Amino acid sequence: MPNGDLNIPLLIALSPNTAAGFARLNIDPLDPAYRGSGKTIIDSQGRRVELPDPQKIEQAFDNAVLDVPFGHFESSPDGINDTTQIPNLFTFRSGPYTADGSFAAGPFGGLSSVNNGVHSSEVNLLAASQISEATLGIDREVYLGTVLQNANDPKVRLPQGKPVKPSEWLREVAPDPEAAELEDQVPAPGTGSYPNLSPSLFTFNGLVFSPNTDRRNDSASGPFLFAANAMAAFQNSLLPPANRTQSNRQALATGAVRRGARVFEQASCTACHPAPFFTDNRIHPAGTIGTDPARARSRLGLEPLLVPPLLFTFDTPVPVPPGAEILAVPTAGIAPTPTSLPTGIVPDGGYKSPALRGLYLSAPYLHDGGAAVRAGALQFFADGSFAVVDPAAGFTYAQ
Ligand code: HEC
Repeated sequence: MPNGDLNIPLLIALSPNTAAGFARLNIDPLDPAYRGSGKTIIDSQGRRVELPDPQKIEQAFDNAVLDVPFGHFESSPDGINDTTQIPNLFTFRSGPYTADGSFAAGPFGGLSSVNNGVHSSEVNLLAASQISEATLGIDREVYLGTVLQNANDPKVRLPQGKPVKPSEWLREVAPDPEAAELEDQVPAPGTGSYPNLSPSLFTFNGLVFSPNTDRRNDSASGPFLFAANAMAAFQNSLLPPANRTQSNRQALATGAVRRGARVFEQASCTACHPAPFFTDNRIHPAGTIGTDPARARSRLGLEPLLVPPLLFTFDTPVPVPPGAEILAVPTAGIAPTPTSLPTGIVPDGGYKSPALRGLYLSAPYLHDGGAAVRAGALQFFADGSFAVVDPAAGFTYAQ
């Protein structure tokens, strides 16, 4: 279940170089507000560019991060502030996955792709520089320089004095990209070679989390994609516990649950939330759903960059030997073509109908926790206004 008490934002803000994650929110490193004593670098066009003042951007980003509610996170390096509640993991048959359904292709209906993303596209801040120009309009060197100028490890911090090209500097001080940026991640077939990988429907940064096969003490060690597939199999075995709360017993006894089920049908909720999992497994345009559209738009920038999704067969050892067998990931019924986002996301973004199981455990509701009030928390007045009378009744946060 989502842990609504987990103060992820504070943990992140406490790190010494939080600004490395600037692309997760809507922070433009070249915003004049951050000018000051930033280093000057050479960008990919050979121009000199002054980076943001390290203290100013760190402060601004820390402040923005601290506004993220408890139990929420933001992982997509999309330049959009689209924080999302930690989802529940009753995942069986409830794909496509994540709030916008962008994880839809590959094993377990896209679930392995989420598990992979958690270990690659959503956390690898350096690899995100590969497509920063195309998706954020931020030059790759400016992106890397912003991350590295205040790096926690002094070895990779940009040097004083003469301006450098950050990517060249990084290769000078960390010559092996596999050790520096790609630990346990291998390029998916057909995505190109690092640092010029293209995203696919399976992996949004071209990388696949797959630690080497022969690591005895690493539980994630195995053949290609073993760990992500194993976690998906486990997640799909999780069932929500029965609702044995006093209020639910009462609702069952008085027939309120039965009456509610009838209303649910009569109101056509079942059009998008049909039994048995109470989801139609489809992505609906954000405009139809009417909730905050920011998250729905999160992946739109990838659409023109996608290459067909390919994977190595799941018996392939890692490191991947030359000539390893390759599988085309099926996309029929998921996306209009192998190189487009899942149906429903284009053109303006969409939301996946979530399964409605275990809801009694997962307040607040909606992808952003925007529906956070339980019965009895508010008192309504005749003029339409309301007051909070019981802040404890499900208020994790209010907007
Ligand atoms: C057009 C499809 C559609 C219809 C019809 C629909 N829903 Fe949904 N429902 C969604 C989508 C999409 C979301 C996710 C929205 C978001 O998170 O921003 C959602 C979210 C929810 C949630 C929040 C679940 C959670 O885990 O936070 C509940 C509860 C819910 N719907 C109940 C209903 C009820 C009750 C009805 C009928 C009155 C209904 N829905 C009708 C598509 C639909």
